[in-house]
Amino acid sequence: ITEQQLNAAGHLTIGGCDALDLAQEYGTPLVVYDVQQIRQQIRAFKRVFEENNVDYAVSYASKAFAAVAMYQVVAAEGGHTDVVSGGELYTAIKAGFPMANVSFHGNNKSRAELEMAVEHHVGTIMIDNFHEIDLLAAVLEEQNATTDVMLRITPGISAHTNKYIQTGQVDSKFGFDLQSGQADEALAKVLANSRMKMKGLHAHIGSQIFELAGFEGVAKKLVEVAAHWQEKFGYQAQVINVGGGFGIRYVKDDHPLAPEEFVDAIIKAIKKQVAQTGLAMPAIWIEPGRSIAGPAGYNLYTVGSRKDVPGLKPYVTVDGGMGDNIRPALYEAQYETVLARNPRTKTVEHVRLAGKYCESGDILSQDQALPATKPGDVLAMLDTGAYGYSMASNYNRNPRPAVVFAENGKAQVVIKRETFEDLIHLDEPYQQ
Ligand code: LLP
Repeated sequence: ITEQQLNAAGHLTIGGCDALDLAQEYGTPLVVYDVQQIRQQIRAFKRVFEENNVDYAVSYASKAFAAVAMYQVVAAEGGHTDVVSGGELYTAIKAGFPMANVSFHGNNKSRAELEMAVEHHVGTIMIDNFHEIDLLAAVLEEQNATTDVMLRITPGISAHTNKYIQTGQVDSKFGFDLQSGQADEALAKVLANSRMKMKGLHAHIGSQIFELAGFEGVAKKLVEVAAHWQEKFGYQAQVINVGGGFGIRYVKDDHPLAPEEFVDAIIKAIKKQVAQTGLAMPAIWIEPGRSIAGPAGYNLYTVGSRKDVPGLKPYVTVDGGMGDNIRPALYEAQYETVLARNPRTKTVEHVRLAGKYCESGDILSQDQALPATKPGDVLAMLDTGAYGYSMASNYNRNPRPAVVFAENGKAQVVIKRETFEDLIHLDEPYQQ
C-alpha cells in the first residue's frame, strides 16, 4: 500500500474511492477493481512490443476474470481476449467485444461451442487435439465457412509453479505432443483443409511463473518448431503465441519481474532465434490473465467472530471465504490483508484469517499480521483480482458477492450481488 492509496482520513482508497465507503454502500464481501490498474497493465504490455518494433496482440486470458464490464475495458484498451468456453464467448459477445480479436481455447470444445464460434466469426480457433480438427472441419463444412486457426503444442517445458497450474510439461492434457510427431501430423491435416487458415502456433507453460528461463525456453522452442515446419512443409507461421503465466507479487517474499519485463525477454529470445533460423519475423501474441486482473482486484470483508486458542494463533473470521476466493484452500495461495481504515497501523498480532464456510480448510490466510481488530472492521485482501471471483461458488448456498469497478473516484456495480432468490432460481420442486 503506497501513500497515494490513502486519503486524508488515512483510509485505503481503490480507484480513488474510500474502501470504507464502498463497503458501506455496497456491502461485504465485495470485490472491487481499480480500473486504471487494469488499463495501465495492458498499456505497459503494449508499450514493450511497440518499443521492440514487433507486431503483437495482448490477448487478455479472460478466465482470470470474465464479466461484460471487463471485456469492455479490455476492448477499449485495444486488447484482444481469449475465451475457453461458450459462456465466456457469450459474455464477450454481449459486451460487444470485436470478435476478430477473440481466440477460442480449450482441450474439449464441444460441437455446439465450435458452431457458436464459427457463427460469430471468432478471430482464431486454437486447435488443441485431433478430435477437434475433425469436429471443426465438420462445422465449417456445414456452415460453408472458413476460419483462422492456430495449433497448440505441448512444448515439453515444466515451469516451477504449483503442479495444478503447470501446463507445458510433456505429460499434459493440453496440446499436440512434439516428440512423437503429433504436431507435424496435425499441421498436415490443417494445411490440407482449405477451410482452415493456419495462422501460427501456440504454447502455454503454466501460471504464476517467476523464472525467465521457462519463457525463454518456450519462445525458443516455438521458433524451432516454426523453422522445422517451414523446412518440412514450406509453411510459414505468421504468429507465435507464447501464452500467459507471468507471476505477480502476492506477499512480501514474492519477487517477480514486472510482467512487461518477462515479455521483453520473450521478444528478445524470439528475435534471436528467428535471426538464427532465417525465418521471417512473426507477430508475437501473449495471453496474460493474472498479471492484468490480479493486482487490480481487492476483496473487502467485514470482521465478525473470533476464537482464541491458548498458545496458538487466533482465528479472526470474516463474512466471506472459500466461496469468493478458493485459491488459499485449493493451492495454499497466500495474500496480504490490511485494515481498510488504517492500512499502515502497526502489527499487534498474527492471526489465522478464517472464512465463514462450514469447512476447516476455509482459511483465507494462515498467518496474517494485523493491528487489533474488532467485529465490524473492514479488511481489504489485496491482489485478489485473478481467479477469485471467476472461481467463486455458491457453496453453503452463500450468494456470490457484488463486483464494483472504481476509477477516478467513481464506483459502479458491474456484477450485482446474488440474492437468495437467485440461489433458488433454477431449483424445481420435486413432484413426489
Ligand atoms: N493462456 C492459456 C492457454 C492458459 O491456459 C492460461 C491459464 C492463460 C493463458 C493465462 O495464464 P495467467 O497469465 O493468468 O497465468 N486457477 C489458477 C490458474 C489457472 C490458469 C489456467 N490457464 C489459479 O488460480 O492460480
